[in-house]
Amino acid sequence: MVWLIVLALLLPAGNVKAAAFNSCVNCHGQCRAADTAGHECSWCHFGSAATSRRDLAHRNLVPPSCADFRSESSQSVHSGAHLAELLACRRCHVVGGAGNRLAQNLDGAVRTLDVAQMRQALRQPAQQMPRFNLPAHDVDSLVSYLLHGAYASVAGSEQPPLVVHFTADNAVAQLPFERHCGGCHQVLSAQYGGLGTGRNGPNLSGLFSRFYPANAERHWNAELLQRWLRNPRQLRPVAIMPPLQLNDDEFAGLLQTFRVADDCHTPPAR
Ligand code: HEC
Ligand code: HEC
Ligand code: HEC
Ligand code: HEC
Repeated sequence: MVWLIVLALLLPAGNVKAAAFNSCVNCHGQCRAADTAGHECSWCHFGSAATSRRDLAHRNLVPPSCADFRSESSQSVHSGAHLAELLACRRCHVVGGAGNRLAQNLDGAVRTLDVAQMRQALRQPAQQMPRFNLPAHDVDSLVSYLLHGAYASVAGSEQPPLVVHFTADNAVAQLPFERHCGGCHQVLSAQYGGLGTGRNGPNLSGLFSRFYPANAERHWNAELLQRWLRNPRQLRPVAIMPPLQLNDDEFAGLLQTFRVADDCHTPPAR
């Protein structure tokens, strides 16, 4: 008799605990839990395990294609890292604790965005962000890598971006970049925000920083830029950019535009 009462007390308690602990398993079955190395479903998929309503449980769900972001050695984190390097996201963003702070710190931003919003940000980029036209699986690799950076990053990189967006007033229109380069190039500057509207030439954000893709010989600096402006073809025989004449004041003003205050020096977390 006593045993029956004990059993009656234990059974429902046990069930309630299991349901509250993981409703994902209630719908998806225990078998998935077997190969998750003791982690809860939401460690990789987010969502909420505390509700048995599917729409609520799936809120902010990380889909299968990005769910391996926790692992350094996963295929998509790996190719996302490669893409981020190739496309030089860090000339504008902090990712995984490293990068210029010209645009949003993605380690912080990613924690407030869901996967759909990140995909959208890459497919339909903001005005001062280059359009990369990536296929869907590359977009998801980048998203995995951003998630990896945001949740593995240990860097104190919560500072807001340094960009100050001025409305196009006369002072900005007179900047050497606007007058001589903005027809063909865009740049995010720490001091003036987004400048230029042109898309013929590459986006020059963070040109002098170590996150800008190095050209064949070396990283860009004032001296190399001066030689380039004088005659691009001397450095790159196939260049289509025309030579440009800037006086000393204008050149000094131009250098200001490429200044990226201080960048974050912490290497990506391993
Ligand atoms: C009420 C039942 C129910 C609950 C609770 C539930 N799911 Fe699901 N889940 C489903 C069904 C049904 C599908 C397949 C249809 C779909 O994609 O919505 C699915 C699909 C998925 C997928 C694949 C989605 C895709 O894009 O292919 C993942 C991942 C997933 N669920 C994870 C979770 C996680 C994690 C939890 C707990 C936080 C959870 N589910 C809770 C019913 C549920
Ligand atoms: C360690 C990270 C991790 C954990 C923890 C995890 N998953 Fe996944 N899940 C993934 C990855 C990666 C994929 C895509 C590759 C695959 O299908 O194995 C995936 C795919 C899925 C899918 C879609 C593919 C399919 O087989 O239907 C569902 C549904 C799913 N997970 C549900 C769950 C549930 C429920 C739990 C908790 C019991 C869980 N996952 C725990 C990483 C994880
Ligand atoms: C030339 C600078 C630049 C480059 C390079 C760049 N972005 Fe952006 N990105 C921006 C700007 C500007 C925004 C708009 C938000 C802001 O002002 O910070 C943005 C927004 C985003 C957002 C949305 C952030 C949010 O809070 O909504 C994501 C995600 C993102 N970028 C990812 C990337 C990835 C991944 C790469 C590399 C493949 C990349 N960006 C390369 C400038 C850049
Ligand atoms: C008429 C259009 C045009 C104007 C004006 C122009 N550029 Fe360019 N620029 C280009 C093009 C196109 C490229 C790509 C390389 C090539 O094929 O010449 C380029 C390349 C560059 C590069 C090399 C970037 C890299 O990643 O290889 C730098 C640096 C540069 N421009 C700086 C400037 C600066 C600074 C100004 C203004 C003082 C300026 N450009 C004005 C068209 C222009």
